[in-house]
Amino acid sequence: MALLELRDVTKTFSVRGRTVHALRGVDLDLDTARTLALVGESGSGKSTLGRVVAGLHGATSGTATFGGFDLLGSWDRERRRSVQMVFQHPYQSLDPRWTVDRILREPLARLSGTRGAAAGTRVAELLDLVGLPATMRTRLPGELSGGQQQRVAIARALAPAPDLVVLDEPTSGLDQSVRGRVVALLRDLQQSTQAAYLFITHDISVVRQIADEVVVMHQGLVVERGGTAAVLDTPREDYTRALLAAVPVADPRRRARRLPGSTSGPGTTPAPATPHDEEIAR
Ligand SMILES: Nc1ncnc2c1ncn2[C@@H]1O[C@H](COP(=O)(O)OP(=O)(O)O)[C@@H](O)[C@H]1O
Ligand SMILES: [Mg+2]
Repeated sequence: MALLELRDVTKTFSVRGRTVHALRGVDLDLDTARTLALVGESGSGKSTLGRVVAGLHGATSGTATFGGFDLLGSWDRERRRSVQMVFQHPYQSLDPRWTVDRILREPLARLSGTRGAAAGTRVAELLDLVGLPATMRTRLPGELSGGQQQRVAIARALAPAPDLVVLDEPTSGLDQSVRGRVVALLRDLQQSTQAAYLFITHDISVVRQIADEVVVMHQGLVVERGGTAAVLDTPREDYTRALLAAVPVADPRRRARRLPGSTSGPGTTPAPATPHDEEIAR
């Protein structure tokens, strides 16, 4: 039995009397220390699936188990500790009034029961793990670069030593130059933590760098799945071929939500990094 098992998971939303079928019967398996990339155009149901797995949405029908526990039932503290999520826009997911120290202590206290000096030691370890200097502890999110913010969000997700991390486009909001380093960091961290990753992305080059397996979604259904090289190099489905040919897939909603200064796109110049950023935003 896989660590994470989804069977025939459906999710519908009711939007002004209209029913939106976000997931139409998804099966998925993911094992310890493995990375499964979830790809598909905007609106295909990737985030909904990630949110169901992370306990942020219920499902409409189907089954989802994690280490044998029912993910669609009520979540106890152990479940909340063992499944963590990293979002696309770190700045929106970090409380702007909290220092990095407080951001990292919060899940330690809430989910692991670690407080005081022991939490202080763990915060230092976490900063070291994600390649941020100890001086970052006293900073507020707004004082950090986008890459540094995402490192803090990754450290927060790893704080309670999760067994599964759902990453929803964790690098799409970052400058191209920072992106590769964050992906490399995530890959290294998986070696040491042995956590499984459900990695949602639009970026096929990121899939190649990090994923063991790929699941291609279209309109709430899995249209293709397999080993990364097999799916990317010899796709069986026309939809997958079209998706790969269209990279990078334009996502108007993502553009609309973009924060000034947090990302760059084609034709825009990244904000100049301070020497300090250059040094540590790897
Ligand atoms: N909270 C929500 N309420 C209503 N509809 C939603 C909600 N979240 C997602 N949807 C709809 O579900 C479908 C899948 O969306 P989503 O999972 O965000 O896709 P993706 O992440 O692949 O872009 C879309 O039609 C979207 O509009
Ligand atoms: Mg999404």
